[in-house]
This record gives sequence, C-alpha cells and structure tokens, in this order.
Amino acid sequence: MVKHAEKKTGILLVAFGTSVTEAQKTYGHIESIVSQTFAHVEIRWAFTSAFVRKKLLKAGQHTLSPLSALAQMADEGFTHVAVQSLHVIPGYEYHDLLQIAHTLQNLPKGIVRIEVGAPLLSSHADLQMAARRLVDWSLGFRSSTEALVLMGHGTSHPANVYYPAFQHYLHQIDANVFLGTIEGYPTLDDVTHQLKSQGIGKAWLFPFLTVAGDHAVHDMTGTEDGNWLQQLAKEGIGAHPIMQGLGSIDSVVGIWAMHLEQAMLKL
Ligand code: CO
Repeated sequence: MVKHAEKKTGILLVAFGTSVTEAQKTYGHIESIVSQTFAHVEIRWAFTSAFVRKKLLKAGQHTLSPLSALAQMADEGFTHVAVQSLHVIPGYEYHDLLQIAHTLQNLPKGIVRIEVGAPLLSSHADLQMAARRLVDWSLGFRSSTEALVLMGHGTSHPANVYYPAFQHYLHQIDANVFLGTIEGYPTLDDVTHQLKSQGIGKAWLFPFLTVAGDHAVHDMTGTEDGNWLQQLAKEGIGAHPIMQGLGSIDSVVGIWAMHLEQAMLKL
C-alpha cells in the first residue's frame, strides 16, 4: 500500500538577490505583503545570483539558491510548493528557475508538486496593470509636465522585447514616462532623444528593478563616470533620483502577489 505523506504547503520567494543592505529591506517589504495574503503558509527565500550569494556569505550571511532551498523544503516534508519569481521579465533567471522547479518535482520522498508564479511582466494584463499602477504612483510626487525615466536592466535574452513593449503600454497612458535599459534596448540615448524632442527639462529617475541594489547605486547615480544622472545632466535634463525599487511600491508588489495566488491555486 502506498503511504501518502500529509499535505504540507509552502511558498518560496525567489529574487536575483542583492548585497546592498537598504535594498534587502525591500525584500522584507515584499514578504510582509505576501504574508498578509497567505497568513498560514510558511515563506522561504532563495537568490538566483551565485555572485550575490557568494558576496553575502563572505559577509557572514548564508542564503540559498532555488535548488538548495527546494531540496531543503523537500527534506522538511513540504509536499506542495508555490515558487514566486520576483524577477521583472521572463529572462534567463526565470527560465533557469522553471527548469530547476520542474526537475525537482515528483522525485522520491520529494515535493509532489511545484508551481512557479510568473515574473512581474508576463501577460498583456500584467503590462497594462503595471503601466497604470506605476504612472498613478508617480503622479503622487511628479507633476504631469515632468518626466518619469525608468532604468531597466536589459538582457540578451529574447525576453528583452518586454522593455520596448512596456514603453508602448506606458506611452498609451502618459507620454512623459520613459523606459531605458542598462544592457539592452531601449538605451538611455533613446530616452534622452525623446526627452529633448518633447522639450522636457526635468525628470524623476527610478530603477525599474525589484530592489535598488548595485545597479541603482552605480549605474543610475553615484560617483562613477557615465551614470544616468550625469548623462542626463550633460543633455541639460535635471533628474531627481529615487533610490527605491519596484518592490517598495505596494500596488506593483500586488501584481507579483497575484501571480503567486495563481500558482497557489494550481497546486
Ligand atoms: Co546586472
């Protein structure tokens, strides 16, 4: 007779990871919102960046990869796990996570079922909602004639198309909201061209990243040459940086939480 283990459900939140202390607090904020919705489900964390995990370990902070976190949950008797990707687009990190989750499902004495929740931008509805919520949030401090410039990561993965796509959704709501990326398309040059052609001289600069980690500190602002703040200033655009990430905006976190809810329902 097959003995069935008692059902034990858990949540695994998976982010890229950061070694910036202020940015880590944003992960705490995301967890507090998730735990309000799923008050009785245990929440665990994993970081997909091996580089970040190594750096944190050197500082005495032990964090887990998705693989180790799921293996540990299996050993602790979890039978059903909803894994929520806290990435922004479905790029390399997300697809690696899918593969790990699928591999660890249904192993002997392991987790029976693993469902992965989509990153922030996945469906048409996500893009619509995220654009609307970001614009509404920004109008809390930005006048409608000032620009909001979002600094996205960008990737060589085909999912980079989500960035120009999201720019399109943003522009359908507000012609003064722009999205550039550090490593992909659109670039900051594309953004400054548009700002100048629209005669906009003042902008708010915000990281289109889950948390305001290394990239916000080094590529957006900071002392290093060529950061976005400097480059905008060179073009005569006075930009005001906001050192927060998407994870600090409750309405945006709500989209990730919605994806987690969908994953929980499939378990
Ligand atoms: Co990077």
